[in-house]
Amino acid sequence: TASEEGSATALANPNIALVKYWGKRDEALILPWTGSLSLTLDAAPTTTTVRLTDTPDDVVLLGGRPLEGTARSRVTRFIDLVRALADRDERVSVDSHNEIPTGAGLASSASGFAALALAASTAFGLDLDRRALSRLARRGSGSASRSIFDGIAVWHAGHDDESSFAEAVPAPGLELGMVLTVLDARAKSVSSRDGMRRTVDTSPYYPAWVERTPVELEEMLAAITRADFTAVGTIAERNAMRMHATMLGAEPPVRYWGPASVELLDLVANLRGDGLECYATMDAGPNVKILCRADAVDELAARILEAQPHIGVIPARAGRGARLITSEP
Ligand code: PMV
Repeated sequence: TASEEGSATALANPNIALVKYWGKRDEALILPWTGSLSLTLDAAPTTTTVRLTDTPDDVVLLGGRPLEGTARSRVTRFIDLVRALADRDERVSVDSHNEIPTGAGLASSASGFAALALAASTAFGLDLDRRALSRLARRGSGSASRSIFDGIAVWHAGHDDESSFAEAVPAPGLELGMVLTVLDARAKSVSSRDGMRRTVDTSPYYPAWVERTPVELEEMLAAITRADFTAVGTIAERNAMRMHATMLGAEPPVRYWGPASVELLDLVANLRGDGLECYATMDAGPNVKILCRADAVDELAARILEAQPHIGVIPARAGRGARLITSEP
């Protein structure tokens, strides 16, 4: 089974932020400058098995291949946190599979560290509640704190390790869908960690982001409570553009999007003009994600492919948070 003594398998889905996290005020603890809010998807999961072993070192496989260098140490340092929490010192094997390209701004680090947090804590015999799990996942990748939860989640910025966690936001009557476009599946050249640091350290627009984002988060929560899709989409699109604006103000500028992204932004505006209500968002990569009502996902995906037959699309709706799975039927 998945969680026999010393072994656990967890599945987690990516989440896409509607109010973005961009910038840490504490790099070691991964405490953000501002709160953020996201939609956990029902597509493109990461599945991760963690097993306690008696090997001299941790073994980390991603997609069946051993990770090396910083990618590996990011995982082993995270496992060190779990060992410390559990007060144990066994080495582990980590076997992780992503359904989507890794490191291309398609939220693989969110699903990855959410699945790893659940699988590793369970393998070491910890039974963390959702809040503790969210705090742990945050230490791997900030956005992973939100993939613990079903559907919409808000990550409270907090002021220390205990107070910086995500939680679910009930959204009765608001059925969201999203189409992820895959314009370029290559890993980004500037990591989100470096892009954030450069923005925080050098962009004169960053203070405006820190001042403004809490207001937008409150507006977003109010729009969700009213189940006001138009407001949710409008705030999300605006917030994404503002995040990228802060990066463009960095020295040197951080720009994740390219010509194909801009074409998609135009397409979204045109579709909206035609009465298919949808809104664009972008993260640390060129791939545009398009928010719509859940019942419009298939039509939206078809319209995107009609206009851009050569790109990849991943249709998605609100999905479940991280969970343990068993290999038994
Ligand atoms: O969790 P990280 O370090 O990969 O940062 C994610 C940052 C964005 O995806 C750009 C925004 C967000 O809130 O997910």
